[in-house]
Amino acid sequence: MSTASDARTLPFAWYGDDEILRRERQLIFARSWQYAGRAEQVAEPGSFITTDAGGIPLLVTRDRAGELRAFLNVCRHRGAILTEGCGTRETIQCHYHAWTYGLDGSLRAAPRADREPGFEAGSLSLLPASVGVWGPFLFANPDPEAGPLEQWLGDLPAILGRDLDLGSLAFHSRVEFGSNANWKVVTENFLECYHCPTAHPDFSAVVDVHPDRYVLEPHPTFSSQHCESRADGERGQFHLLYPNTGINVFPGPANLSIGPIVPTAPGRTERYLDYFFAPGADESWIADFFAFDDQVGREDTALVESVQRGMAAGMLQEGRLLLNAEPLIAAFQRWVTEHLEFG
Ligand code: FES
Ligand SMILES: [Fe+2]
Repeated sequence: MSTASDARTLPFAWYGDDEILRRERQLIFARSWQYAGRAEQVAEPGSFITTDAGGIPLLVTRDRAGELRAFLNVCRHRGAILTEGCGTRETIQCHYHAWTYGLDGSLRAAPRADREPGFEAGSLSLLPASVGVWGPFLFANPDPEAGPLEQWLGDLPAILGRDLDLGSLAFHSRVEFGSNANWKVVTENFLECYHCPTAHPDFSAVVDVHPDRYVLEPHPTFSSQHCESRADGERGQFHLLYPNTGINVFPGPANLSIGPIVPTAPGRTERYLDYFFAPGADESWIADFFAFDDQVGREDTALVESVQRGMAAGMLQEGRLLLNAEPLIAAFQRWVTEHLEFG
């Protein structure tokens, strides 16, 4: 049952506040499954990949025995970020004072430790985190006690599977972008198509954005949007896996993009999307696809940066949702509020 209070947005002050972001890191991002890259990047024993779980640096490794593991990517010595990017290594060595860890997280060597009475390398392993795989996708969760990824995904793989066979896709490329807006502004913009007719004329010419046919569907751990192309009724899906993984499938030839929405400051969000298409998909179609997606992305960036400036003026305390058009925002805001333990 919707109540009038559901129609109030979160306080605008929550979108520009260091203390709220600190709380979100601790109570949301430190405990959530987030997209971390492609599973094939850690397929080989000895491979590793780094990722940013909402401001928490993580390291995912495939150790020599073939076991997939995740750790906090922070050195136990004095807290440097251990390593960046991805690759294949025997060990992970910190760039600051060369403390060296095995791919199983154990501290193998620390220069001059032999001169240090009582130095206990065994108690200085990297902090463990959790890792999971869904088809071609790698997910990480800073919480070592996290429940299984499958449980968090819920019905999402089955819903996605109605329109797309993940096994039939091949990775194409990664596109990085960002905006001067709070991660929740960016996420909420993704959760409604109320703005599509006004702000995305090209998108709305291709996709039927009529409220009777553009379907908004809340789920316990994700929000789904289902649409059809105007021309031939081909289906598309857009999902937000809470808290911050976006998944897009546009109507047309097989395509999928997936990536995290990462806060780096209260007013700054960094993103990337990993794009997948059918192997051998037509390159000119792909070029048109990227031009279309880029256009929609630039329109969205202008919108969210405008919202951030409007909120930051500090004169309005909150906004008013339209629950028929923005139920997924209401659901997301309830989820955030509960997790911040304000609800
Ligand atoms: S901070 Fe990593 S070795 Fe010193
Ligand atoms: Fe948009």
